[in-house]
Formats: sequence, structure tokens, C-alpha cells
Amino acid sequence: MIHLKSALEIDRIRASCRIAAEAMLRVEEALAPGVTTLHLDQIADRYIRSQGAVASALGYRGFPRSICVSVNDEVVHGIPGDRVLQEGDILAVDIAVKKDGFHGDMNVTMKAGCVPPKAQRLLDATRQSLEEGLAACTPGQRLGDIGHAIQSYVEARGFSIVRAYCGHGIGRNFHEEPQLLHYGKAGTGRRLQNGMVFTIEPMVNEGEHETRVLDDDWTAVTADGKLSAQYEHTVAVTNDGPDVLSRFADLPY
Ligand code: MF3
Ligand code: CO
Repeated sequence: MIHLKSALEIDRIRASCRIAAEAMLRVEEALAPGVTTLHLDQIADRYIRSQGAVASALGYRGFPRSICVSVNDEVVHGIPGDRVLQEGDILAVDIAVKKDGFHGDMNVTMKAGCVPPKAQRLLDATRQSLEEGLAACTPGQRLGDIGHAIQSYVEARGFSIVRAYCGHGIGRNFHEEPQLLHYGKAGTGRRLQNGMVFTIEPMVNEGEHETRVLDDDWTAVTADGKLSAQYEHTVAVTNDGPDVLSRFADLPY
């Protein structure tokens, strides 16, 4: 069952997203070659707690940290630790926050220093693929239209869309219905309705789409060892069009 959110519930989710976006900004300010991924986790966790909120990831199915940081060939669910970031690394920073009973979720791929042109192209394509997906979030469209918009944009640029992980409904639960595939056929799947709230979080690979999970049972990496990037927003479908709940006029995401 898909819970359709009221305007009040949507504003609660937006408030949690605001904390996530502010934490993201603080992580980005702290990011530099030589910094560990655990340091970034601590920056985010401290800010989130200062707002009377909690990180949704912490303890989720046993996840040991507050945010996910996935570097280079890591696709998703990287665990912050003593890894020292190097000039040229790309890192997907996933921050989800729960405040007053509602979750908000977003992800930004950042750069440690300057990155090679091929990495920049991957970042640009991934970010724009999210925009293509968000633009498809209008009532009457179908879930498959979103996946199709993302997949066709990504593949036209010679990259691949990860199949093994998807977007998700969000609200009182971190993950709820519907599942949002980042690939698919136009005109298929459930019809979008006013009040649906879900994440769109395409993971785009430089090479093939296949992934595998490391021995830590969390970190997913590309099977071919090539780069992967991800951007994510939480979006509400409304009769006025897509309302991107994790985007704020005064913040860069
Ligand atoms: N945005 C990611 C997701 O929705 C964050 C996962 S947090 C983790 O799957 F704890 F599961 F790692
Ligand atoms: Co998510």
C-alpha cells in the first residue's frame, strides 16, 4: 500500500530534508584530500544531533555509521572509516535524517580536489539523469516513465544504470512503498498520484551496470572496478508538479 501524504506530512519530510541538506553542506566544507571518510561521518552526525534529529542510517539493519560514503568504484552503502581521501576521488555522500517521526533522504557525489574529465562527465550525467527523473514526477505519469527517462538519458551518454538498488517511498518509514526503479519502460507501472513521496537516487556506472557486495556485507562496488556516481532527492508528486523536498533555494543541491 502506498501512503499518500498530506500537506502537513510533506512539510515534516521537508524539514528533515533541510537538516540533511545542511549536514551535506558541512560535509562538503570539510572535504579535502587527506580527510578520512569517518571524519565526514562525524561532521554530519554532530550537525544532525544538534538539530534534535537522528541519522536514519545509524543502526538501520545494523548499519554502523550515520551516513554512507561510497568512493570511486563503490556504488552505494560505503561505511565511513579510516580511508583517507585522495586528490581526484569522487565520493557519493548519502545523508538521511529522521526528525519528529519523518525521514528525509538525499545524496550528492562530491569531489576531493580536481577530478579527471571522465569522472566529471560521469558526475554531470548522473546529476542530470536525476533531473530527468524528477521532471517526470507529475500526476498521471507512471513509475516506469521515471525509470525510462533516467535510463535513456544515462545510456545515451555511454554509461550504465545500476539495477540492483532502487529508490523508495519515504515518510514515517525510511523505506516504504513504492519501489522506484531507475530503469524501465515508458507507460508501465503504477500511476503517480498527488501526495506520493519517494526518493529518486540513480547510481550510474562508467562501465557495466553489475555490482557486488564486499565482505563487510554493506559496501556495493562495480563488478568491473570502474567509477560509479549517485545523486538523490526526495520528491513529492503534487497537482502543481514535482515538489523536490530536499532542494532549497539557498542551498546548492
Ligand atoms: N539512501 C540510501 C538508501 O535509501 C541509504 C541507505 S542507509 C543504510 O538505501 F543504512 F542502509 F545504509
Ligand atoms: Co534512499
